[in-house]
Formats: sequence, structure tokens, C-alpha cells
Amino acid sequence: MELYDLIVLGGGPAGYNAAERAAEEGLKTLLFEGRALGGVCLNEGCIPTKTLLYSAKIYDYAKHGPEYGVSFDGAKIDHKAVVERKGRVVKMLVGGIGATLKKAGVTVVSENAKITGRDGEGFTVAAAGTEYKAKKLLVCTGSTAAVPPIPGLRESVASGFAKTNREILEMTTVPKKLVVIGGGVIGLEMASYFNSIGSKVTVIEMLDHIAGPTDREISSILQKNYMKRGVEFLLQAKVTSVEKDGVCFEKDGKAQKAEADCVLVSIGRRAMTADIGLETIGVKVERGAIVTNERCETNIAGVWAAGDVNGKLMLAHTAYREGEVAVNNMVGKRDEVHYESIPSVIYTNPEVASVGETSESVKEKGLDAKTLSVTLKYSGRYVAENEGGDGIVKLIIDKEHRYLIGVHMIGNYASEIIYGAAMMVEKKMRVDNIKKFVFPHPSVCEVIREGIFQI
Ligand code: NAI
Repeated sequence: MELYDLIVLGGGPAGYNAAERAAEEGLKTLLFEGRALGGVCLNEGCIPTKTLLYSAKIYDYAKHGPEYGVSFDGAKIDHKAVVERKGRVVKMLVGGIGATLKKAGVTVVSENAKITGRDGEGFTVAAAGTEYKAKKLLVCTGSTAAVPPIPGLRESVASGFAKTNREILEMTTVPKKLVVIGGGVIGLEMASYFNSIGSKVTVIEMLDHIAGPTDREISSILQKNYMKRGVEFLLQAKVTSVEKDGVCFEKDGKAQKAEADCVLVSIGRRAMTADIGLETIGVKVERGAIVTNERCETNIAGVWAAGDVNGKLMLAHTAYREGEVAVNNMVGKRDEVHYESIPSVIYTNPEVASVGETSESVKEKGLDAKTLSVTLKYSGRYVAENEGGDGIVKLIIDKEHRYLIGVHMIGNYASEIIYGAAMMVEKKMRVDNIKKFVFPHPSVCEVIREGIFQI
């Protein structure tokens, strides 16, 4: 049996990126992917949703054209054509990953693999009746949508009435009434799309706010924007069952029902740790996720894990970094993931982007911090491009050292601006040093400079 240096389980962002890096480092690398290269991100997550949302954005711009002196009479959106385009975009990018891996010299086996044990030489893995062996293992098996045992929910998913992120992206019809269970990232992005293309959207969320850990001032502006556009938010609502024509829930002590012809369940994700043979080599799993440290090591020497499977910060860009960190440590280049400076984005319209501490987290942690909110209207470009826009940027500064510990933004281009803020947070840049940076003008990112001068 051929002995590989590294076997990677899973070809999503963590796995494919790590496999490429490992091959570049000279490791003889084998990657298993049972579905499609690119994983959830490329096939049923980040990229498909961004493709849909971009079409919705064009349509929204067309609808709002008259506010800017432009009219697009009879603008229409063809959801089926949008979904078909999404398929072409995904296909092209999946092909690109295959070509990149081939060029890097990674052997790809298109099968699901299972760890079967270890011997003196390394770890053994079986796929489609064949056994493979490697000195090291990297587990990047990702996550799947959580479908909790709410009465009627699993049956509704089986019948197609309720959908997870996977099925909703394949749907070619437009629901009249879409009920979204869970007002987190997936729920809000899909609510945004279907609201734009004409569905009546209701979001049922058990917390008293949407967008999970997002800074509360920002999530409240986001909610107001979508309420204005007709999305209904039922907060502090407990889903009790899913029936054939809607979702039953309790709110303010009253049993109620939201009618639907389609339901999206987006209440979080579960790491994929079952049935991959982790127990055969004793890899520690807690609350369904592989336990890793900041170097992406598991409790077993020679076994690493990266991406959603560790249950930490289920974001594709976190997965990329974790995959790289795992490989660097494998080849003796000590490296670690700095989770506190990883940015996150919600691709609604307006976009939301965040990094670091929030107003709420500084209170919880008892940090001595100053918080400043600045309207994006300080930016000439923002005003030029956003009639009636209510975007803000929030800066959170450590009072004692005067460095940035958090940046939160709502308004378009936030998704592209946040990486600069993430670098400032990662490098613990002091306010006085940031003041010396020159920001391009006119730009929306200038508002960060404006805020820094107001501190
Ligand atoms: P999430 O964790 O972002 O949000 C789930 C929401 O559902 C929470 O607000 C939670 O309070 C609520 N919830 C849980 N149980 C509920 C119940 N029984 N009834 C009503 N509400 C309930 O999870 P989501 O949206 O499914 O996303 C999964 C993962 O995918 C996240 O880790 C997210 O970061 C990632 N993702 C990231 C994207 C991005 O970076 N733009 C886009 C889409 C997904």
C-alpha cells in the first residue's frame, strides 16, 4: 500500500486549501471528497447565495432607480434564470479547484472516506473498498444544517415543504409566503433575497434580536431596514411545530401560527463527526465537534482538524486559515489562528460586517472600552450612492492602550472594507498610528478615519 504523507478528509475550504498548501510544502497529499470540491461554501453556501443576492441587488437598484434619476420600466427578475446562473458560477469555480489541486500535485479521490485505525507507519483510511495510508491526517469534514426534533419539522424537510440551505438554493419557484426559522446569517441572507424577489417573508427568532452576536445597534438598524421593506420579524418566539401550511409558535404566552407555502430552517449547523471513524484512533469529540487548539491539533499526535468540524467559528475564511495553520504546524512552522480578529459579514443589502469586540461583549467581559458610532453620512460617496441610507460604523477602543478592539459596520461595501479594520484589530493598532493612514477619497472606508479623529 502506498504511504502518503497526508490524507485530508473533505474538500471544502479547509480541506482543499490545506491540501494545496501541503503539496506546495512537498507533502505527498491525498484528498477525499464524497460530494463536490468546494464543500458547503461553494456548492450550497457562500457562493450560491452571493450569486442570488447579486441578482437581487441589481433588481433592487432597478426598483430604486427613479430615486437616482434613472428609470428601468418593467424591470423583472426571473428566479429560475438566477438559479441557473448560480449553477454555472458554481460549476466554473468547482472546476477551478479541481484544476488547482491537480496542478499542485494533490491526488483527489471522489469518495467518502472513513478512518479505520493506525499501525506503526501511520493512519489507515478506507473508501469504496480500498484502503489508504498516511503518516498524518487532517479532518475537514465540515458541517450540516441542524434540524432539531421540533414536531413536524423533520417530516416537512423530508416532504420538501421545509428546506435547509441546501434545498432552498435549488428551488426554482418563488414562494408566496416564506417563513424563516432562525434570524441568523443564513436566515437573513435568504430573507433578503426572497423579500427582494417578491415573497412575503416572516422571520421567527427565539432571541430578542436578530443576527446573533452582531453588535446590537447594528442588528437593530438591519432589522429596521428589512421591516421597512416588509419583512416581518417575530422575536422571542418559540417554534412549537411545523404543519403542512405553516409554522406554529408561542409568543408572549400565546400560541400562534405563521402561514407559509415554504419554510426555511436556519437555526445553526452541526459539525460532521459521525461515521468517519474518529473513535478508531481516539480523537476527542465534545458536543459533536472535534476538539482542537489554536494550532488546529487534536488530542492525537499526527491528527489535525480544520473548518466547521471543530465547531468554533463556522466561516469559510476561518476554515481557510485553519487549514493553513494545520499544514504549517505539520511541517514545523509554528502557527496559530487568532480567532478574535476574524471578520464576519452578512451579505444583506445593506451589508453588515464586523470584527472583534462588540458593545455587548466589552460589558460582559468588563473591559474598559470606549465606543463610538459614526454615521456613514460623513462619507460623500456613501451619501452619493445611498438615498436615505442609515448606515453607521462603530469603533470600540481599549481605553488604556488606545487601540482598536472592534469595528462594526452597516452599509454597502462594508464586506470589502472590513478586512482593513481586521488588520488594525489584529495588529492592535493605536489610534494615533491609524490617524497617520491615508484613506482614499471619496470612499466609504474614510468613515473609519473620521471616527478615529473623533476619539
Ligand atoms: P446562526 O447560528 O447564524 O443563526 C441561527 C439563529 O437561529 C440564531 O439567531 C438562533 O437564536 C436561532 N434559533 C435557534 N433555534 C431556534 C428555534 N428553535 N426557533 C427560532 N430560532 C432559533 O445559524 P445559520 O443562520 O443557520 O448559519 C449557520 C452557519 O453558517 C453560521 O455559523 C454562519 O456563520 C454560517 N454562514 C455564514 C455566512 C456568512 O459568512 N455570510 C452566510 C451563511 C452562513
